[in-house]
Amino acid sequence: MGDRSFLFVLGSARAGGNTEALARAAADQLPPSVPRTWLSLSDGALPPFDDLRHAGVEWPAPSGPEQQLLDATLAATDVVLATPTYWYTVSASTKLYLDHWSGWMRLPGVDFKARMAGKTLWTVSVLSDEPQHADALVDTLRRCADYMGMRWGGALLGNGSRPGDIHQDTTAMSAAKTFFAA
Ligand SMILES: Cc1cc2nc3c(=O)[nH]c(=O)nc-3n(C[C@H](O)[C@H](O)[C@H](O)COP(=O)(O)O)c2cc1C
Repeated sequence: MGDRSFLFVLGSARAGGNTEALARAAADQLPPSVPRTWLSLSDGALPPFDDLRHAGVEWPAPSGPEQQLLDATLAATDVVLATPTYWYTVSASTKLYLDHWSGWMRLPGVDFKARMAGKTLWTVSVLSDEPQHADALVDTLRRCADYMGMRWGGALLGNGSRPGDIHQDTTAMSAAKTFFAA
């Protein structure tokens, strides 16, 4: 863990939800020396994604929160998508963050894809249904990791609906203790 640094990308559409609580329980087990950054995708942190791939223009340089997300993504060795399961997959804000990866890959001089290769992608997700209902979410993110040449760290799944419910899921809370040891 010596040279690792973790970026937690919070993709819930509410503050203080179960997904963040489970992600924090997992993060608490990281050695204190491991740097960690928490960024939220809420409140319009990212602009809508414009697909300019074939528009014959240079990809526009990011600014504000988008620049902060890009810099933090490049700086981390480990990217943790803390996304609730919404409609069997990642939340819209998490999906938007991933869509922006397609843009960042095209920013001149950034070399985003090559610099993401070799990092580890993880997810933490809470859903109100049984864990297998997050299969599509997990499959999606595993494929994203593959595409980017990233290592797939795995998925920590928990059960909950109302904020705080996750603390009743003793299986997930105990899995959190060793999740990042993988
Ligand atoms: C838009 C939306 C879609 C949801 N879709 C699902 C779903 O497909 N499967 C499921 O089990 N729970 C679903 N839920 C329940 C949430 O996953 C659950 O409430 C979770 O705790 C939300 O995460 P949070 O507490 O971190 O905000 C959905 C909730 C919302 C608001």
